[in-house]
Amino acid sequence: MAVSPARAVAFEILLRIEREESYAAELLHSARLAKLSSRDHGLATELVMGVLRWQSLLDRQLAAASSQKLERLDGEVLAALRLGAYQLRFLSRVPARAAIFESVELVKAARKRSAATFVNAVLRKIAGAGAEDIFAKIGESHDSITLAQNAAHPPWLVARWIEHYGLEATRQICIQDQTVPGTAIHIHHDESDVDQVSQISQTDAELAATGVRLSPGRLLSAARRVLSGDVTGTRANQEGRISIQDEASQLVALLVGRGENILDCCAAPGSKTALLARRNPRAKVLTTELHPHRARLLQNLNRLPNVHVVAADARHLPFSSSFNRILADVPCSGTGTLARNPEIKWRLKAEDLHDLQSRQVAILKSALAQLAIGGRLVYSTCSLEHEENEAVVEAALEGTAEFKVADLKGELEQLRQCGEMCWEDIASLLAGPYLRTIPGVHPCDGFFAALIERR
Ligand SMILES: C[S@@+](CC[C@H](N)C(=O)[O-])C[C@H]1O[C@@H](n2cnc3c(N)ncnc32)[C@H](O)[C@@H]1O
Repeated sequence: MAVSPARAVAFEILLRIEREESYAAELLHSARLAKLSSRDHGLATELVMGVLRWQSLLDRQLAAASSQKLERLDGEVLAALRLGAYQLRFLSRVPARAAIFESVELVKAARKRSAATFVNAVLRKIAGAGAEDIFAKIGESHDSITLAQNAAHPPWLVARWIEHYGLEATRQICIQDQTVPGTAIHIHHDESDVDQVSQISQTDAELAATGVRLSPGRLLSAARRVLSGDVTGTRANQEGRISIQDEASQLVALLVGRGENILDCCAAPGSKTALLARRNPRAKVLTTELHPHRARLLQNLNRLPNVHVVAADARHLPFSSSFNRILADVPCSGTGTLARNPEIKWRLKAEDLHDLQSRQVAILKSALAQLAIGGRLVYSTCSLEHEENEAVVEAALEGTAEFKVADLKGELEQLRQCGEMCWEDIASLLAGPYLRTIPGVHPCDGFFAALIERR
């Protein structure tokens, strides 16, 4: 009997992630998967993300049941074992015999027939193991090693979060990272129109008519949370009247404010660009992106008349003019988005933070050089690590008197006063003068933002 399409796709994607350093979310949205039914696509997503989220916990279980060290197994055998173990441990709706059978078939199809008996024996051994409430165990973990083990995170990452954010916040981060994240959207609206509320309500009604159920945004008034239904296929999405975007990411774009000459210097895939360009319809929005294929993606997604895309390295910006608003949403470790990108936690090494920091400082310095007098720049990351956030701002501004870090408290209060922000506890979003959202503590991904002004 053939392997089910969802498991075959999940197996192939897990192997590619291991071998090519690819990203799960990108592979799961690639055109090749378009032929899958939405049910199979959903199952493939659940299997890939579930295995990656719980990888170290699954490996511990497998290692205890295996006669061979996991490091010595072929990639195909390990991937099939992880897929089987995940279904046995977390998918109660899949009968154990089906989970085991499909993993055995996967290794056979991958020409590892000799491993079929081994895979069958290991998975049978773990099939009967009781499943304790793992989220309760995460909530009760009292030290970094136990928390890392229960929450399937690398111990070094958990230890540094406890040091920086405290034990309780770290438990919440871990719980959030191990949970399927919700989908948020931004409803674009014409801000020059006096009746923005009714514009947003019209889009609400349009989406409801297509079977999409929404609840209000938790941070922002123009945001919505998708409760059920497929927003990607709606006309509003295809026409760019809504964007699928985490609420903290929307908030970062709002902080850029209004201007005539805007630079978005690390722009792909372009979700913040879309918000900037629609919020500033009369402004020219120049975007740069290092990788030409990502610049093309940005171009295709953002067909707005005021957006101009240039494939360029933001460390050496090719512009002679200056900009009164700049967004530097730099490449980062992504540790604030582990629920969406769980593979990151297994790849990232503490020493990578140093290289990332050097690149981030170079981009920020180069962007600051393009900032007009009186202009403002937002530096942002989706990282929880100090090295990529406060330390970058401090390093880039060291020894200069022409720039100053502005307190974001005033900006957030203004967004609240004018009704754009609905989150009440502004102080909880601040770390000194900076924006700091923490997954699990706030209802969004973990973003950092600094506002820098040129005197
Ligand atoms: C965090 S992502 C930006 C996300 C984007 N602002 C959005 O909201 O959709 C960082 C982007 O910067 C690009 N990048 C990396 N190094 C760069 C560089 N030196 N110059 C310009 N872009 C760069 C990456 O390819 C990636 O697309």
